[in-house]
Amino acid sequence: MQYQWYPGHMFKTKKQMQEDIRFIDVILELVDARIPYSSKNPEIDKLATNKSRVLLFNKEDMADPKATDRWSRYYEERGYVTARLNSKSGSGVGQIQEKIKQACHEKLERDRRRGILNRPLRAMIVGIPNVGKSTFINSFAGKACTKTGNKPGVTKGKQWIRLNKTVELLDTPGILWPKFEDQRVGQNIAFIGSINDDILNPTELAYELCKFLSKRYPDSLKEKYEVTENTNALVMLEQIAQKRACRKKGGDLDLERAAILLLDDFRNAKIRKITLELPEDILNENSKGENQKEDQ
Ligand code: G4P
Repeated sequence: MQYQWYPGHMFKTKKQMQEDIRFIDVILELVDARIPYSSKNPEIDKLATNKSRVLLFNKEDMADPKATDRWSRYYEERGYVTARLNSKSGSGVGQIQEKIKQACHEKLERDRRRGILNRPLRAMIVGIPNVGKSTFINSFAGKACTKTGNKPGVTKGKQWIRLNKTVELLDTPGILWPKFEDQRVGQNIAFIGSINDDILNPTELAYELCKFLSKRYPDSLKEKYEVTENTNALVMLEQIAQKRACRKKGGDLDLERAAILLLDDFRNAKIRKITLELPEDILNENSKGENQKEDQ
């Protein structure tokens, strides 16, 4: 199955982000905790050289907490300050200000030595569509914040949200695109429902999800739908259809309906808290790539 790229205006958005990044000290990069690698665009590394970085595992309420622990370690070992949060409920949002200060401690120290006190840190949110940027901004900024408006000569046309004495937030988030050239990334984005479903084949996608779940979360389908099969994805989906009485008019099993139901349950974390990738997957893939290069 081909997973489609998000439509249009990518070039313009990237240029805008390049422009915005000049004005900021720290990037708050939101990823979806269920797919921390697939929802992260590697381009941001090129755009954000010399900027402090905070990586936020959003939607942690739907992800496997043990997997989130591993991802936090993985990215912290690579120099990120990380935090996990649920922007929808607001849980974890309270720690972000401290995380920003932690990420910017060198700059704060430099400012202090130069006698510059109370200059707010400027932050910008970036992330792929649907990762929760607007929800996070609302939750982080709350109602108490004030928009500071344009600052002539410095940030023409930019709106800043002054959170407090320490942090100012650019009120328009930067939109990044996932790395769709990688089929596995495309598939993960499709699993979480961030690709328009109209262009996908739900039954094929559900087969792939069954295969994944039977490998990584072997009891999950049994617990949720009393599925007894654990290798053949078609049989798994048939059993889900049976259990949930998904039938066509003549009485045959309606696999497409079962597929949509399974995908919906997964996307709403009704199966259980599931993470679709682990750091080992990425490390294994990278080492495979290296070996292939050596073989050539
Ligand atoms: P974006 O600006 O990055 O495009 O994302 P946006 O904030 O619009 O969020 C996309 C969806 O993700 C919204 O759901 C939002 O409620 C949900 N969301 C954001 N953060 C979290 C989180 O931490 N946990 C959970 N469970 N959901 C989160 P929606 O269905 O589009 O809207 P709504 O029905 O929730 O209003």
